[in-house]
Amino acid sequence: MPTENSSFPQDFIWGAATASYQIEGAAHEDGRGESVWDRFCATPGKVRNGDSGERACDFYHRYPEDVGLMRELGLGAFRFSIAWPRILPTGRGSVNEAGLDFYDRLVDELLAHGIEPFPTLFHWDTPQALEDQGGWPARATAEAFAEYADVVVRRLGDRVRHWITHNEPWVHAWIGHSWGKHAPGRTSEADAVAAAHHLLLSHGWAVDVIRAAAPDAQVGISLNLAHSYPASETPEDEAAAWHVDGEANRWFLDPIFRGSYPADLLERNELAVPVIQDGDLAAISAPTDFLGVNNYFRFIVSAGADGPRMERHAENQHTDMGWEVYPDGLRQLLVRVANDYAPKEIYITENGAAFVDVQGHDGRVHDPERTAYIQTYIAAVSQAIEDGAPVKGYFVWSLLDNFEWAEGYSKRFGIVYIDYPTLVRVPKDSFYWYRDFIAASTRTPRPSPIATG
Ligand code: FCB
Repeated sequence: MPTENSSFPQDFIWGAATASYQIEGAAHEDGRGESVWDRFCATPGKVRNGDSGERACDFYHRYPEDVGLMRELGLGAFRFSIAWPRILPTGRGSVNEAGLDFYDRLVDELLAHGIEPFPTLFHWDTPQALEDQGGWPARATAEAFAEYADVVVRRLGDRVRHWITHNEPWVHAWIGHSWGKHAPGRTSEADAVAAAHHLLLSHGWAVDVIRAAAPDAQVGISLNLAHSYPASETPEDEAAAWHVDGEANRWFLDPIFRGSYPADLLERNELAVPVIQDGDLAAISAPTDFLGVNNYFRFIVSAGADGPRMERHAENQHTDMGWEVYPDGLRQLLVRVANDYAPKEIYITENGAAFVDVQGHDGRVHDPERTAYIQTYIAAVSQAIEDGAPVKGYFVWSLLDNFEWAEGYSKRFGIVYIDYPTLVRVPKDSFYWYRDFIAASTRTPRPSPIATG
């Protein structure tokens, strides 16, 4: 499985990604307010084993140790998210300085080790108080998000050079508001469509807010994207695959890059129309500096009697999430997105795999499947770059095993194993592979740590 390091430019950024609710713990400390995920986890039957992010990896207290691991890896960047309820415990109004202080310390610690912070402003932990007032289906939550973005960027914008507004609005809107499988656990398609629009709108507003407070910063959004393959070449399967592409990919890419929702879907989806106000699409299509692509699998779609049907190639490898391992799907996705939407730059802001890991008698965690996954997907990124996609960085999901939403702690995505009873960190074999790969790719000496004041 050779991976040609040389095809990555010297300034390519090698990173790792995480999210606040999945790793921080300290759910009741230093004035943090309640988030929709605290409430959802406390609701019986919602999360596997009744797990919650209350303690998670305790990153809130152990971040210096984890930054040490990042340094050992040779990471150029770390993607984390900011917990809105730490900053504004009730969503709007009074600012909790202690919450800002935590991210201030984290940013300084990263920079002191020569690691670029890539914060995401929203990775699904809406303040519960805002949910109680209507949540993302209400336009007021988009306004509140712009205020929150302003508070955060004013504090960290002197040091943070890359901002991600949202993480995977499709997942939050649909799985959280229509399927009810994620917080806030709503089961209304109309709520999902409205939530998706307000997430996009608040992204556009936040782009302006960030540019005003930090004019030199690079701003983008992370979308979950997956290439949609027809199960056969019949026109019916082709149409079904295009429809799935529309709902999963174009519904977000089109408004951001073209200022319009896909016409073929608008015709079918009457629910979407009422929530769009004059000026919304102009706001959503505010120019961005990069697109974050989160990718784990592809879609294989056939035309079923009741609409598009997802197919499964049982002979291919699948991860512990049941997701097909298909690296060329990432290459094709990147080439297609570059051709159709021409983002200035692309970062792979998430890619990785859950497999069942055990700590062996030798104390190590041998995870050859994860290593192979990361290696082959990185090779696909390299091919996409050769094919013209402007990919500038890759963030493995995830640095640490963590709280995998509705799956609780049962799915392990980390390149570092967490022994949950003790919270001891054990770098897996994939960690050492990534460390050696980064070292080989980054032949120029690392810059000395940036001094912080
Ligand atoms: C993505 C999420 C991330 C993580 C991975 C496995 O959809 O953004 O938080 O759960 O999936």
